[in-house]
Amino acid sequence: MGKALEGVRVLDMTHVQSGPSCTQILAWMGADVVKIEATTGDITRKQLRDLPDVDSLYFTMLNCNKRSITLNMKSDRGKELFTELVGNFDILAENFGPGAVDRMGFSWERLQEINPRLIYASIKGFGDGPYTHFKAYEVVAQAMGGSMSTTGFEDGPPLATGSQIGDSGTGIHTVAGILAALFQRERSGRGQRVTVAMQHAVLNLCRVKLRDQQRLAHGPLGEYPNKEFDDTVPRSGNASGGGQPGWAVRCAPGGPNDYIYVIVQPVGWEPIAKLIGRPELADDPDWNTPDARLSKLDKMFQMIEEWSIDHSKWEVLAKLNAHNIPCGPILSTKEIIEDTSLADNEIVVKVPHPERGEFATVGMPIKLSDSPAEVARSPLLGEHNIDIYGKELGLGDDELAELKANGVI
Ligand code: COA
Repeated sequence: MGKALEGVRVLDMTHVQSGPSCTQILAWMGADVVKIEATTGDITRKQLRDLPDVDSLYFTMLNCNKRSITLNMKSDRGKELFTELVGNFDILAENFGPGAVDRMGFSWERLQEINPRLIYASIKGFGDGPYTHFKAYEVVAQAMGGSMSTTGFEDGPPLATGSQIGDSGTGIHTVAGILAALFQRERSGRGQRVTVAMQHAVLNLCRVKLRDQQRLAHGPLGEYPNKEFDDTVPRSGNASGGGQPGWAVRCAPGGPNDYIYVIVQPVGWEPIAKLIGRPELADDPDWNTPDARLSKLDKMFQMIEEWSIDHSKWEVLAKLNAHNIPCGPILSTKEIIEDTSLADNEIVVKVPHPERGEFATVGMPIKLSDSPAEVARSPLLGEHNIDIYGKELGLGDDELAELKANGVI
């Protein structure tokens, strides 16, 4: 069976997380992704190492199913080889600091001259304007995209979320842009530029907070636990902030992740009232409508917690789901990596690696029935130099040895 992107070739100049998370998805969709690295390698090969002299999990978990070649883009011969390669690929992806690829001598105009069908995808921190030339990392994007100011508790500082919405969130937005550009190329015959700013991607994921910013003009946000509002959306702890109230309530035995997030839909109130031992509240007009409960959500979740604290989160999960009440136990990373259902879904997968042995990674979250993803290990640095420079560009062994000796590859 073929893969969705079989035959599509990606020249992958990405590094760190945002770009590699994008090209890894393309590889899982079947594209041939060839990662070009400086001769020193993607910096993450050496960052956060858990084992000496072995590619870090940071690298191996973001670069599966790719090939790796080394190329010194600051050498004349490196630029020549790159020019040849660009002609052979459909997509060029990069997430260097602003202007880096132009400084290498490859503006968008130049790249189009070399290959008019090329789709050129770039991730940067920001769009056009005062921040264009600024570098960005994950939490910088969270800070400037609306996430940090709305995450945390009212009386605490802004908080970063553990989800890498700035990096992998931007990566997945870039996948969407690249796929659309590929589809348009089918009709137009032309490549195009795809740009995604991390600030924009985070803001897209924080869309509902801008909804609430505008609602504020018409009064306080009743479904938020906050008692006072000024002119900006406040941090609201674990409140869902959506149409249905939710909160994380404690469970037994009271460990740091012994919590379950419970959502109280209108239809859920009666079974919840019965489960928590307060059946009389099911019909009580002070409690039996969403409007009646709105001003006392804190009291409502306190009553639920007085019940849940005597049960494990797994028991609460079963009891609530028996009545179709949406809820989610807070799963620790240890619980997730050991979860058999996630393994069965191939979203937590074990991958053999020649230097580090087997490692666990997060598999393909997008399931295509005609194009199942098979997760294969990340490449070693320059592992495919011979495949690409020798077999594809036709360089001989002597030239390859010379390029290596001169630090070009
Ligand atoms: N050969 C030779 N030089 C190479 C090379 C190669 N194969 N690949 C990269 N380089 C050089 C570049 O030419 C550039 O040099 P220059 O600044 O002299 O032109 C340099 O390496 C890379 O610079 P940069 O990307 O700015 O690296 P950095 O480590 O200083 O910054 C980031 C890292 C992530 C802050 C920056 O890349 C960035 O802002 N990227 C865009 C946003 C982003 O994706 N951030 C999230 C990362 S998870």
